[in-house]
Amino acid sequence: MRPRGDGGQQADWYANPAAASWQAAPLRDQPRAFHRTLPGYAPTPLTPLPPVADALGVRAVFLKDESSRLGLPAFKVLGASYAIARALSARLGEVDALPLHRLRERLGGSGPRLVAATDGNHGRAVAHIAALLGLPATIYVPDGLSSAATAAIVSEGAELVQLELPYDDVVEHAAQRAEGEAMLIQDTSWEGYELVPRWIVAGYATLVQEVDEQLAAAGLWDLGLVVVPAGVGSLAQAVVHHYRSSSRRPAILACEPDSAASVTTALHAGHVEPVHTGNTIMTGLNCGTVSEIAWPTLRDGLDASAVVTDEQALSATRELASLGVDSGPCGAATLAALRAAATAASQRNDLGLTADSVVVLLSTEGTAANPKVP
Ligand SMILES: Cc1ncc(COP(=O)(O)O)c(C=O)c1O
Repeated sequence: MRPRGDGGQQADWYANPAAASWQAAPLRDQPRAFHRTLPGYAPTPLTPLPPVADALGVRAVFLKDESSRLGLPAFKVLGASYAIARALSARLGEVDALPLHRLRERLGGSGPRLVAATDGNHGRAVAHIAALLGLPATIYVPDGLSSAATAAIVSEGAELVQLELPYDDVVEHAAQRAEGEAMLIQDTSWEGYELVPRWIVAGYATLVQEVDEQLAAAGLWDLGLVVVPAGVGSLAQAVVHHYRSSSRRPAILACEPDSAASVTTALHAGHVEPVHTGNTIMTGLNCGTVSEIAWPTLRDGLDASAVVTDEQALSATRELASLGVDSGPCGAATLAALRAAATAASQRNDLGLTADSVVVLLSTEGTAANPKVP
């Protein structure tokens, strides 16, 4: 692995040429079969953006639009629903995830309290699934979350606890509180807490499986690049794992806020190094520590990582809105990262981008997810 910079911008860009040939073992989980049992499941749109492709000199750019996923404005419910179902099914002695209606019957309202820390989307998803199962939920949030995001969590019937702490400390707090009877459903992992985050990551595979089917339906087989937003890196882990264990082998670019560059920092350092986080409009990406189980996969299989400023994310949100696409700052960060990389010769080269490249942007939320944008 060789860290590479672009002139004086080294800290903002990382490329790993060895990632292209790294191979991951296939996952055994079948989250899609479980997701198909959820009320309202349907693949989210894969929207072509011809003006963006023309401007950036590539064959096609598609945006995977997660602004409405199973009734919520972000992708996170894919992981939360699968992990909750796996964890509760395991308690009932089942190896696979039971459909939610079967779980609800079997639990008869006497299951554990579900607990999560969140910077918005994951906690709402946990609260939503708890409500569908008839279970209580407690969701811990850091300060600085928009009132719309906290109201959305409360509207799912969960108990909300707001702490004057940054996200990483809120996770620690929730983990301590969930000891005992309650069940912690956290989308990041640390030593001794790996099983639930593994199921969450497994659940995200549905999103990329849909992308593959949608590209195939459009007659496109050569996928050149996938751009994925990163907070703790669990979604990026799922994307890297999927494409490094499949026949499609696109380059994968992670992007994160410049004020919470935990993945890029860890890649430069060669180990996980928590970073201080500040304020960002990319609220869902405002995480200081890479998930422990994500790290080896990101280190070995991620082709590149880039940081995005709030200004770039905001302008990408507006550009997408002008194209009729509802994308919140975390989702639009992918367009900002693509624009910067596609117009810098050395980064374009790192990603293998050419006039023939097909690019997919994972727009992980709609503007309703966390309306903080000025
Ligand atoms: C909208 C959105 N996009 C992307 C992410 C990043 O996912 P991860 O924390 O798994 O890297 C999050 C995390 O909460 C999110 O809410």
